[in-house]
Amino acid sequence: MLAQIRSIVGEKNFSTRIADLYTYGFDASIHHRTPDVVVQPRTTEQVSRILRFANENRIPVLARGGGTGLCGSAVPIKGGIVMDMTKMNQIKEIRVEDLYCVVGPGVIYDKLNEALAPYGFFFPPTPGSGEACTIGGMVATNASGMRAIKYGATRDYVLGLEVVLANGEVIRTGTRTIKNSSGYQLERLFVGSEGTLGIITEVTLRIAPKPKKSAMAVAAFDSLEKAGRCVSAIIAKPLIPSAIELMDRICIKAVNKTMHVGFPDCEALCLIEVDGDPKVVEDEVKEVHTICKEIGAISVEFSTDPKQMAKWTAGRKAVLPALSRYGDEYVSVSLADDMSVPISKIPETVVAFQKIAERNNVIVGTYGHAADGNLHTKMLLNPLSEESWKNGEKAVAEIFEAVIAVGGTVTGEHGVGISKAPYMKKERESILGVMKAIKQTLDPNNILNPGKLMEWEGSIIRYLRYPCRDFA
Ligand code: LAC
Ligand code: ZN
Repeated sequence: MLAQIRSIVGEKNFSTRIADLYTYGFDASIHHRTPDVVVQPRTTEQVSRILRFANENRIPVLARGGGTGLCGSAVPIKGGIVMDMTKMNQIKEIRVEDLYCVVGPGVIYDKLNEALAPYGFFFPPTPGSGEACTIGGMVATNASGMRAIKYGATRDYVLGLEVVLANGEVIRTGTRTIKNSSGYQLERLFVGSEGTLGIITEVTLRIAPKPKKSAMAVAAFDSLEKAGRCVSAIIAKPLIPSAIELMDRICIKAVNKTMHVGFPDCEALCLIEVDGDPKVVEDEVKEVHTICKEIGAISVEFSTDPKQMAKWTAGRKAVLPALSRYGDEYVSVSLADDMSVPISKIPETVVAFQKIAERNNVIVGTYGHAADGNLHTKMLLNPLSEESWKNGEKAVAEIFEAVIAVGGTVTGEHGVGISKAPYMKKERESILGVMKAIKQTLDPNNILNPGKLMEWEGSIIRYLRYPCRDFA
């Protein structure tokens, strides 16, 4: 079988070397499992031939992009073939007059924006991992990031997709037009499907004009609850910022320790960005200042200097890696990593997270894209301690319960994978039957990313990447 797979993609695009297999068993989550073979297809036809072969032989296939996912979507828990899509990385068309571009799934987010910049356009979702994540991965998880409040998530930009189905059939969903009412909106079905329904081989994306100007503010607060209230006060003004990033004391401390960004030493801060026409930006900066002060900000510092704004943004993007340096005995693990709640529920939700952390004896850093209600928590655990994992797992369950209780969702931008699967199943109980029926129709032999999402059973503390046993 290996010889047949090799003959489809060619010797150079195929590996069974132990080091390669081990490496391809990771994404950026807490999980790991070594696959049997790795391929790097270059064409849709190769993807199609591999899937036809895998389907006939009941071999699991998992497509992956940059491997930046935080919940195990790209970990091949059933072994089989990992299909690395990063070589299908051509930017095929940029048509600013038609507001779209056509790209291979392996194009890296920042590279696409570099190519769009000379035209004055961009693809806005701004994921934290933009320098490494791929467009295919973003579609497969409906990824987004800082600017979703104003510009939306990946799903809002997907005009059309080329997808290879489990049996090797190639379909084209959607259009290259801005509007389309022509039948089922199947491109939406593949957004967020995490490689379980088909493999994306081409993406037609809507693009947006770049804002003419932007400004940023760092507002410091003496409580996390106040910072949360500041977010909904700005939105309700009404004022739609391009981003409001919230960071709690633990995240601020971790970033200041590692990055020298000079964030104010406080209980919580909001990094607020407004953008648009220069006159509008000027007015909105004043309004943001007034609102922050009304809520009780200790300090508010503004900048329109691109260098200063880049420094603050880099500080915010560094939260995730910086947390691993918070204390020597901990690593920062992605558990309960991207819940979304209605914006006005942020204050009570972040306070609930703090209480859950204390109750379960876990250090939890809370931050996130608060403007759109998307919160991140990172747990600092000792990965060799069973007690630490058990405390973490209990805190995860309580966090998700709190989020669902206020009308939220267990994942706003990273997807389900493994780490959120049992909780997604609770949240989405009423549609699990339909999800299973769709999966059964498109992938009757269950070869595409098997065992994930609604198929996951049991505890999430399994397939761990750390040198410890599964504590489930
Ligand atoms: C971030 C990733 C974790 O916002 O989504 O940093
Ligand atoms: Zn994020």
